[in-house]
Amino acid sequence: MSTSIIAISNHKGGVGKTTSVVNIGAGLALIGYKVLLIDMDPQANLTQSYGITKAKVSVYEVLKGEAEVETVEIFENLEILPSTLDLSGAEMELINEAGREYILSEAIASIVDKYDYVFIDCPPSLGLLTINALTAATEVYIPLQAHYLAIKGLTKIIEVIGKVKKRLNKKIEITGVFVTQFDKRKVLHRDVVDTIYTYFQEKLFNTKIRENIALAEAPSQGYDIFHYDPESKGAEDYKKLCKEIIERHMSEDDDENNDNKEVNKDNE
Ligand SMILES: Nc1ncnc2c1ncn2[C@@H]1O[C@H](COP(=O)(O)OP(=O)(O)OP(=O)(O)O)[C@@H](O)[C@H]1O
Ligand SMILES: [Mg+2]
Repeated sequence: MSTSIIAISNHKGGVGKTTSVVNIGAGLALIGYKVLLIDMDPQANLTQSYGITKAKVSVYEVLKGEAEVETVEIFENLEILPSTLDLSGAEMELINEAGREYILSEAIASIVDKYDYVFIDCPPSLGLLTINALTAATEVYIPLQAHYLAIKGLTKIIEVIGKVKKRLNKKIEITGVFVTQFDKRKVLHRDVVDTIYTYFQEKLFNTKIRENIALAEAPSQGYDIFHYDPESKGAEDYKKLCKEIIERHMSEDDDENNDNKEVNKDNE
């Protein structure tokens, strides 16, 4: 299987990007996949969620060309390239750099082969940090809250992804959308999910991440949901989402193999 590099992005704040990177990453690593998480947000919530305070190398030094990528192991199969507040200056500092959109992509090129999955946590903006993430990625997942404005705000990110695809990274594709902080008792939430389905069709994952307090509590203890409260609804939902992610990638691999077989047959 080739490495899937997945940017988790939505310029709307607080939709569950970081919570999803933490828990999808941990879930896949616990199943046995090798996973790298990259924190592209100067808020460094992903880094803090794992209680990492001092790392030798952060994304900032890497983007500035001051250091080679050096990851920190969280537990077996799970590593992180952390962020720091310094990263907030990077967008301005790199503005005159040639090829500034490709810096992350180039920096991780030599290490991504070691992993099955790389997840990039994007900041709630569409500036140079997000563009670097989209240029380095092979896929984008968009988490959405079941809010009636959820779809409306998407025009901008879809436009940006379209531009990145045209000019910087032909591979990039929105391959997944999922609903977070879902409450099935709310009619509004159910209606919004129907609208999201109409818009994204099969890109929408079946799994909805329900509202669950354990998901909000876990980071303060430096844990993902599986180590914090494995019996919680949050753990159940993220486990289901991980299974769907794996299934999608396995069927892609099958498609690729079948395509190769077709080519071989044609050559016979
Ligand atoms: N399913 C959930 N149930 C309850 N709380 C949640 C859930 N998902 C996320 N949260 C909480 O909602 C807040 C926002 O989540 P998170 O930080 O993951 O969003 P984000 O999109 O990364 O935000 P930002 O745009 O600021 O980076 C956090 O306090 C988080 O703990
Ligand atoms: Mg975040």
